[in-house]
Amino acid sequence: MDRCNTARIAAAFSLVAASFGAAAPAPAAAQEVTVYCSILEEQCREGATLFEKSTGIKVAMVRKSTGEVYAQVKAEAGNPRGDVWWGGPGEPHLQAAEEGLLDEYKSPKLPELLDWAQRHAEQAKFRTSGIYLGALGIGYNTELLKKRGIPAPKCWADLLDPKLRDEVQIADPNSSGTAYVFLATTVQRLGEEKGFEYLKALHKNINQYTKSGIAPVKATALGETTVGIAFIHDMLTQKLQGAPIETVAPCEGTGYETGSVSIIKGGRNPEAARRFVDFTLSPEAQNINAKLKINSIPSNRNTTLSPDAPNFSEMKLIDYDTPRWGSPAERSRLLKKFDAEVKSQPR
Ligand code: G6P
Repeated sequence: MDRCNTARIAAAFSLVAASFGAAAPAPAAAQEVTVYCSILEEQCREGATLFEKSTGIKVAMVRKSTGEVYAQVKAEAGNPRGDVWWGGPGEPHLQAAEEGLLDEYKSPKLPELLDWAQRHAEQAKFRTSGIYLGALGIGYNTELLKKRGIPAPKCWADLLDPKLRDEVQIADPNSSGTAYVFLATTVQRLGEEKGFEYLKALHKNINQYTKSGIAPVKATALGETTVGIAFIHDMLTQKLQGAPIETVAPCEGTGYETGSVSIIKGGRNPEAARRFVDFTLSPEAQNINAKLKINSIPSNRNTTLSPDAPNFSEMKLIDYDTPRWGSPAERSRLLKKFDAEVKSQPR
């Protein structure tokens, strides 16, 4: 089981060394690879350019949220069109792996990865690998909060304040891996019954369930919502760009994502797919984060850690169980229950 506790994550965090060092891969014959990309659009684009430059393999890149890629890979199972699924929280990857939609691959880069990422790959029987960690949290627009006279939230429970009616935004866990991590975090933190009571109460304060996990971050930065629930590293990026955002690692404890990369079974370009996965596990690709001021925690020991990356050792993390909540039975059940008991309810 993925019992990745605070201490282990903190230790992993401190092991990230700051150096560059990927060896240039040998040039390939004209090839192409189709990548379904669930990280930020700008990371996807930068990655495609770098990979094309260093390998000569042409990349066709499509950006979609994690739950959407899962659904697409499943729908295309009879005639797979994608080769690689790059990024997004581990649960939808694990569900796809269990459902036989992903190929096993032991990248030669695996020994370079931090322990948590190696464990993630082993637990998935090498049908997915870990590329980054991201902690879930709360972001709020300091100007709007002040204007509305609402005290700054410190805890998940604070988001139930009636003063925040229509002021909180989160994505839909069906399409967004981020929002699924929130759903699974809530259920793990409070137990299923109390967790759903919390989600139903929070529903009253939700102004919109967006498609992608990044949308509430951008809306908070732009003052379109007072509070957003998302990954802390994404909110920090907005803050660094000058947005009036503060981030909170909630007092009760929070969950986190294991950002993943997988090879789609039956894809048309298996060799290029394997090279692309090697690339995503290398410092060459993972250093894109520091370059673009994207502050998730990279999995390769030799990747440069962004100096602004959130410090996991200062957060209260729950004992988040990625394999359990990424199992087909649990993920499908939780999403169905969320739709029936929360999302479809009047506000
Ligand atoms: C952003 C974050 C990633 C996260 C991804 C999930 O790109 O930086 O850490 O994995 O969103 O996107 P989704 O739209 O599926 O929630």
